[in-house]
Amino acid sequence: MFELDTIVVGDCLDIVTEMPDECVDAVVTDPPYQVGLNKQLCSWDIWPGSEIWKQLYRVVKKDGYLVLSLAPHISHERIPDVLGTGWRVLHIRSNNKLPTKDQLNIAMAQLQSGKDRAEIVLDDWGHGPIFTGFT
Ligand SMILES: C[S@@+](CC[C@H](N)C(=O)[O-])C[C@H]1O[C@@H](n2cnc3c(N)ncnc32)[C@H](O)[C@@H]1O
Repeated sequence: MFELDTIVVGDCLDIVTEMPDECVDAVVTDPPYQVGLNKQLCSWDIWPGSEIWKQLYRVVKKDGYLVLSLAPHISHERIPDVLGTGWRVLHIRSNNKLPTKDQLNIAMAQLQSGKDRAEIVLDDWGHGPIFTGFT
């Protein structure tokens, strides 16, 4: 039912629920962060909770990725909803810097040794982190 090169409009949880297991290579998303913490700043600014990450883990192939952007002041509060749904998490807290190859190698080694979470904090972090999950 899902054609290549097609944009599907709708509630992401409804749509992903209809998708078969392990049918996509990667997910790249900028979801609502609920940046107002316990406040909701606008009608769509509702953090989706853990069910969506569980469903995305199911539909992404086992060598696939989830790239998730989050606001830096809130990302550590949102990660627990992603952990425990299958994803291993590399949390990169950054403004506009990219991690070095050495930093990535250290973090990846931690994940490969069985940890479900590794973190790279770049000294100027403040806006626009990259937050990545691995199947
Ligand atoms: C942080 S914004 C992304 C903004 C986008 N990256 C841009 O530059 O315009 C989150 C977006 O998710 C959409 N959204 C919220 N809940 C959704 C849902 N259940 N299904 C699909 N989209 C949703 C909102 O309408 C909003 O446009």
